Amino acid sequence: MRIDVLTIFPKVFTPLNASMMKRGREKGCVSFHLWNLRDFSTNAYRQVDDAPFGGGRGMVLKCEPIYRGVEEIRKYNPEGTVILTTPQGRLLTQEIAAQLAQKPGLILICGHYEGVDERVSRLCDEELSIGDYILTGGELPAMVIIDAVVRLIPGVLPEGAAERDSFCEGLLDWPCYTRPAEFRGMKVPEVLLSGNHKAVEEWRRLQAEERTRKRRPDLYQKYLEKKKAVNTQP
Ligand SMILES: C[S@@+](CC[C@H](N)C(=O)[O-])C[C@H]1O[C@@H](n2cnc3c(N)ncnc32)[C@H](O)[C@@H]1O
Repeated sequence: MRIDVLTIFPKVFTPLNASMMKRGREKGCVSFHLWNLRDFSTNAYRQVDDAPFGGGRGMVLKCEPIYRGVEEIRKYNPEGTVILTTPQGRLLTQEIAAQLAQKPGLILICGHYEGVDERVSRLCDEELSIGDYILTGGELPAMVIIDAVVRLIPGVLPEGAAERDSFCEGLLDWPCYTRPAEFRGMKVPEVLLSGNHKAVEEWRRLQAEERTRKRRPDLYQKYLEKKKAVNTQP
């Protein structure tokens, strides 16, 4: 997969050089390309923002540099899904990340200031939010989207590693422990030390269900509905 990012802060994308994103790149599963939005400015001051029509606070990212930038990027990433990072977009979920991981390419646009000229929406296939809170710019959201997607591209993680993470089966993950078996009076549940794989599997499933029921009743309800639908299939 080819991932292009259009931003006024290309230098902040250092996490792309670490961990799974580095691994994905080194394994040839993904390539990253950072583009400075200012390079597509139409004036000598490399200006990419302007005051909002109608007055009011803040500055707005202009549409011309973004259109020019995406048109240039398209020459290298012709099938890339164009995504605008915005708190007004669809909430990113594991399911959306998995769908994006199947795409041949992504083109991410990072907003800033008060936001982005509304006409940029026409250029986008998708508008994504990473949560109901406001960040200063679209750089961190773009990195969150990239991380969530890249680890799901086949070949990046060891086989099966992502399949049992939280959300994959509609449940949160179960509690996990490592050595020592006892720490400051806190003991690891006996079953995990028993060597009985079937009992461990069963314990983990029950823990995942219970944890989801308590912490995320919204997810648990969906999980129950899905389970019921599967059980009533002819
Ligand atoms: C300060 S925010 C603008 C917020 C805008 N005035 C609003 O209320 O919707 C600047 C930029 O940061 C990015 N951003 C901030 N929070 C975000 C979130 N939760 N999800 C995705 N992008 C976000 C977007 O690219 C946005 O254009």
